[in-house]
Amino acid sequence: MKVLVTGANGQLGAALQRVLSHDVVALDRNEMDITDWNVVQQVFVRVKPDVVINAAAFTQVDVAEEEKTPAYQINALGARNLALATAALEIPIVQVSTDYVFDGLGHKPLHEYDVPNPRSVYGASKLAGEQAVTSLNPQHFIVRTAWLFHVHGNNFLKTMCGLADRPEVRVVSDQFGSPTFAPHLAQAIEQLIETQAYGVYHCAGRGGASWYELTKHLYALLKIKTPVVPVSTAEFPRPAERPRYSVLTTIQEPRIVLPPWQEGVESFVIGLDL
Ligand SMILES: NC(=O)c1ccc[n+]([C@@H]2O[C@H](COP(=O)([O-])OP(=O)(O)OC[C@H]3O[C@@H](n4cnc5c(N)ncnc54)[C@H](OP(=O)(O)O)[C@@H]3O)[C@@H](O)[C@H]2O)c1
Repeated sequence: MKVLVTGANGQLGAALQRVLSHDVVALDRNEMDITDWNVVQQVFVRVKPDVVINAAAFTQVDVAEEEKTPAYQINALGARNLALATAALEIPIVQVSTDYVFDGLGHKPLHEYDVPNPRSVYGASKLAGEQAVTSLNPQHFIVRTAWLFHVHGNNFLKTMCGLADRPEVRVVSDQFGSPTFAPHLAQAIEQLIETQAYGVYHCAGRGGASWYELTKHLYALLKIKTPVVPVSTAEFPRPAERPRYSVLTTIQEPRIVLPPWQEGVESFVIGLDL
């Protein structure tokens, strides 16, 4: 099976290239800009994929509040182009999405049938991408994940490692999500594409944590003694609203459950390059 992966240089793109056991053609933005319909068509003719995994995205959540058009061009129009191209070939597409499609106002883990209600441009643009893929290609896997980290790329854990030489580190303790090690997500996607069970899936590190708890766990594993001070969201105003509680769970069959998020952090700490 030939798998075409977009966004090859991102965290998930890197993980997919290492984890997938199939024939993988992974292309970065220079090789295939997903917003360019002509380029997408040319690549499909050349590569002749059997399945496409869209790991490309505009992921700068705060920047998206100002740069609404580029966010929609990549997260919605780019997804639509890939949905049209895969539908024309009658092949499946995996569209990776986010917990930011939810408002995060509840207090219970969110499953696949909870109703999205994004409160940021990023979340709304990703939901538009989901809808484009769902409506245009019946052979779709919508894979929502959260709080991604990997040894490749930029992420919260790397930022926290970089701040460890400060006298103290202040971290938000009233936002809860599901930290996810990108290779664990890549493994889940590999399992999914072996099935024909199309639909929406929540694939995120098992269990929930606040950013504060995540940082405490990371520092404990690294034996970093820097004090971690819990602070509220109100003390850290950001342009984009974050979901307060967006821990993801799954009830979708076949149940694909990722390892606990703590295992992902442990793998990150030993530099596991999957
Ligand atoms: N990061 C998270 O915490 C998180 C949480 C939930 C869901 N997700 C979702 O998970 C997926 C993977 O995220 P990630 O963390 O791996 O993202 P990432 O590290 O930011 O990588 C995204 C990649 O997409 C590429 N890209 C951007 N515009 C493109 C275009 N027009 N055509 C082709 N490629 C383009 C980027 O290339 P450039 O570097 O050249 O811009 C980048 O390499 C995304 O769908 C994201 O929305 C991420």
